[in-house]
This record gives sequence, C-alpha cells and structure tokens, in this order.
Amino acid sequence: MKIAVYPGSFDPITFGHLDIIERASLIFDRVLVAVSINPGKQPLFSMSERTEMIARECAYLSNVVVCSFKGLLSDFVREQGAHAIVRGLRAISDFEYEFQMALMNRKLNPYAETVFLVAKPEYSFLSSSIVKEIASFGGDVKGLVSDYVALRLKEKFLNNR
Ligand code: PNS
Repeated sequence: MKIAVYPGSFDPITFGHLDIIERASLIFDRVLVAVSINPGKQPLFSMSERTEMIARECAYLSNVVVCSFKGLLSDFVREQGAHAIVRGLRAISDFEYEFQMALMNRKLNPYAETVFLVAKPEYSFLSSSIVKEIASFGGDVKGLVSDYVALRLKEKFLNNR
C-alpha cells in the first residue's frame, strides 16, 4: 500500500489545498493530511480546529485520513511507514523554499521522497494567509474556501475584535 503524507499549516484549508488532496488521493492508496507546526507562522486556528475543518472537507474521500503531529516531518513520515511527501507548487516563488525542504527531509529520512503537484491555475494566487487577510477586513472569501470555513473565519474575527 502506497501511503503519502500531505503536511501543512492548513490555517485554514482552502480550495487550493482540497484540489491537491483530491488529486493525491487518486495517485496514492492512502493520503494522510497532516496538520503540523510551521515555526515561521503564528496560526489563527488551533491544531484541533484545523484538523476538524479538514476532516469535514475531506469526508467524501474514502482513502484520506486527517491527523496532526508536532515534531519533525521526516520522523512522522518514518513512523507512518509512508512513501512520499506531497506538496503543492503554485508558482516559481514557492520553489526555493519547497526545494530546500524536500532536500532536507530526504537527508533526514532517505525514504522521504517529495512529490510536487502543480496547483491548478485558478488556485495559483490562493493562500491561507491571503484568505485570512480578506476575512479579517470583512471581505468575501467565496470561491476560495468552503462556506463552512468562511463561517469559521467570520466567527474567529468577530471573537478576536
Ligand atoms: O503549509 P506550510 O506552512 O507551508 O507547511 C510547512 C510545514 C508545516 C510542512 C513545515 O513547516 C514542516 O514540515 N513542519 C514540521 C517541522 C519540520 O519537519 N521542519 C523541518 C522541515 S525541512
């Protein structure tokens, strides 16, 4: 069984992430969507809130499992017996960071092979950060995230005021 880990902050999950998850689920037998900590980012949603939102969005995909971890990705991949790390590439600007991460993960775990899926053009401009910025000013995030995630963003920014 070929298992892939799709790690990320998912703060919150967008249609861009969902597109990558769907496509990975067609390639691998099982996809573990793993909510993890990016030390360079201060999350808006807790890990359990992010996990819950992803689980809801991916409920229709029978070979997708949602989980979270706090340590190194390379260790998590080893523990799960996974064969690949899936990452989405939106633009050239993503490449440098992704390239460094892929090489480092392979150094830490020679079996951690990174597979890049190129984002659909309609999602190439989409990021969780931009969605949060729009939502924080009361803007419309329709078409970028699900109605449920849009509602969770609205609640979060109302409660944070
Ligand atoms: O969605 P993001 O923020 O781009 O995801 C980045 C993430 C969470 C996958 C990355 O920061 C990560 O792998 N965190 C776990 C800690 C780790 O292994 N860091 C070393 C990466 S080479």
